[in-house]
Amino acid sequence: MKIQKITPDILYLTPDSMRKLGACAGVVAHGKKATIGIDLNLGPTDSLDALRQFNPDLALITHYHLDHSIWIRRAEKTCQAKVLVPEAEAQYLSSLDYVLDRTAGKFNLTREWEDFIVNTLGFTPLETFETLTSETGLDRYRDGLTPIPTPGHSPGHFSFYFSKEKILFSGDMGLDRFGPWYGWPDCDLEGIVQSIDRLSRLDLDLILTSHGGVINKEDIPGAWQSSLFSLLKRERRILDQMDAGLSREEILKNGVFYPVTSTAPPPMVRFLEMWDKTMLDHHLKVIRQGGLQHLFPDIWPME
Ligand SMILES: [Fe+2]
Repeated sequence: MKIQKITPDILYLTPDSMRKLGACAGVVAHGKKATIGIDLNLGPTDSLDALRQFNPDLALITHYHLDHSIWIRRAEKTCQAKVLVPEAEAQYLSSLDYVLDRTAGKFNLTREWEDFIVNTLGFTPLETFETLTSETGLDRYRDGLTPIPTPGHSPGHFSFYFSKEKILFSGDMGLDRFGPWYGWPDCDLEGIVQSIDRLSRLDLDLILTSHGGVINKEDIPGAWQSSLFSLLKRERRILDQMDAGLSREEILKNGVFYPVTSTAPPPMVRFLEMWDKTMLDHHLKVIRQGGLQHLFPDIWPME
């Protein structure tokens, strides 16, 4: 893993490769009151190394997705850290049946997905934890640390704002070259737009992202814009194909988020197809309501 000192007491930890399966970048914040770890899901070995090295008192996650949350089982057991998980996502972490039902269950891929999350990623039900809401005071752990509800990518997603330093740990807000992801039925495309809009109003000097590295102050407005624009671009691409008379299957064959799915080995290819189908469904839901520009005229004024 790579450890970047962002300030004397805020560290940004990234996996050796951002493309590493099931891993994301995370943050360690040292303070007088506590050491806090957020999303230290750097891969099995690096996560354990980070926990041993920094021994957090408090373990936080932005959301339940497995590439962000596997490590908190170890935080609880290895460091006796207090674990706080988003209130709206507690059952995703404590129950295998619940997470399967809300993710791949709808697609008749439960068995393959269960095998992947349990045997490849290492899911076990989280036993001891408390829940995080927008009302949870994190000041008692670190002055100025504020959880900001940013649902959409997942039902209870949080970003974390270090207000004194004007640093945001954004989580999965799509501030990377791929743009926002909404491949599960519990994602909400409108929610993503609203959450990006909310975050883009913060006074920020720096953003630390889960999969897209560090964004400097001068690049922040452009990063929000490009994340939002990627949604509009996808919608337009779908609309163009619908206008041209393409069927749902043909649109999916051309890819919604994943451009080429046929080269991935099974069962991954089926997971990619499942996520693309779901992303198309989220767009169609918005299109039925008039489309992104109609729903968000302040963000995308009509030409
Ligand atoms: Fe995610």
